[in-house]
Amino acid sequence: MSIFKKTIFTGFSPNLTTRDVATALAYLFFPLKWSGINSGKKVELVEKALKKYFNVKHAYVFDSGRSALLFALKTLGISNGDEVLVQGYTCMVVVNSITQSGAKPVFVDCEDDLNMKAGDLEKKISAKSKVLIIQHTFGLPADIEKLLAIAKKNNLFVIEDCAHSFGASLAGKLLGTFGDIGMLSFGTDKIVSSVRGGALITNNQNLSEKIKIFQDQLPAPKLLRTIQHLIHLPVFYFGKEIYHLQIGKILLFVSQKIGIINKIIYDQEKRGEPVNFYPSKLANSLADILLSQLKDVDVINKHRKEIADYYDKNIKNNRFNLIWNNEKIKSKNCIYLRYPVLIEQPEQILAFAKKKGIILGNWYNSVVAPLGIDLEKTKYVPGSCPNAERLAKKTFNLPTDRNISLKDAERIVEILNNF
Ligand SMILES: Cc1ncc(COP(=O)(O)O)c(C=O)c1O
Repeated sequence: MSIFKKTIFTGFSPNLTTRDVATALAYLFFPLKWSGINSGKKVELVEKALKKYFNVKHAYVFDSGRSALLFALKTLGISNGDEVLVQGYTCMVVVNSITQSGAKPVFVDCEDDLNMKAGDLEKKISAKSKVLIIQHTFGLPADIEKLLAIAKKNNLFVIEDCAHSFGASLAGKLLGTFGDIGMLSFGTDKIVSSVRGGALITNNQNLSEKIKIFQDQLPAPKLLRTIQHLIHLPVFYFGKEIYHLQIGKILLFVSQKIGIINKIIYDQEKRGEPVNFYPSKLANSLADILLSQLKDVDVINKHRKEIADYYDKNIKNNRFNLIWNNEKIKSKNCIYLRYPVLIEQPEQILAFAKKKGIILGNWYNSVVAPLGIDLEKTKYVPGSCPNAERLAKKTFNLPTDRNISLKDAERIVEILNNF
């Protein structure tokens, strides 16, 4: 890693702006702001902004996408023994929400584009199936028409998992508005981020009333937890700036070890167990940060597409399979949360790039990601989603976020072409 060139990141809170860092510091250090750390009017304003953006009647925010998903499932009346269909090539926290609702996850294989395979969905539906979760992986709209038709034929409720796809659309209609409920995430690595946060959107009055009851019953966030999320912003901002000098790396490592910044997924969650500080309401100060980010969302997504387009046109090394560089994908309004690439043994390119100061992404390196989770707890039956397993072994991803300049993209492409 060179100390003369700044490190390029794929994860590591990619949405950070100086504006958000200033907001976080104001809440942390101005006594006049302290009363607004957990409670205030910003949550309501976020819900209003979401309703306007998605043109939906109802929006409710939560502490995270995983909590939002849990309450979406509860709202749909999940009870013990019900089955929830979800694609392989997903995240452990999605599976945890399903198991915590009392349901059993049933995994459906995915297509080569990383989204759910309609043909396999039909095979996995049983008399116990109650809900279908449609994930729009990395911002690519799933084959929604086919999947919705199958859901309708089989009387399944549909939750759209839009954790990766805020702002993506199909035929002019925003993702999240096709199913019964849309789930959004504002976690550190998502399209817009308040470090932690999530939401549910719906047009269904009956479902909306149920979601509101769950939301009203939630405890306020723990103050120390909110402070930890606020500290996350300056620590990551400055840590990344000086990462190439090694001090930043140490700062981030130590901050995480001693717990002053949060983790995307905790060890308990990797074992399929709940953490004791969620679910809760969303903190007012985090909603404040989110409000500013929401104003930028279309600009951020346009930038993501431009960077993805650059990768499409300039990665020439045949060892890499650019699975989204084709007309079918380009005809969809994908917003490229990350740009997925396939290669045998992706660990090698990840290590090669790291030596050159580029930290590439390893989402999703397991059929239920990340690697190292307790797969038995997920109820995944090995071999039941062969394509998802194959893709998980081969994928790595490139950054597209607002902090990646065209010059950064050039550096990434050069590394890939020389590999
Ligand atoms: C596909 C998918 N759905 C849902 C979630 C949950 O979102 P959150 O991190 O806000 O809990 C994630 C988290 O990374 C995810 O990748």
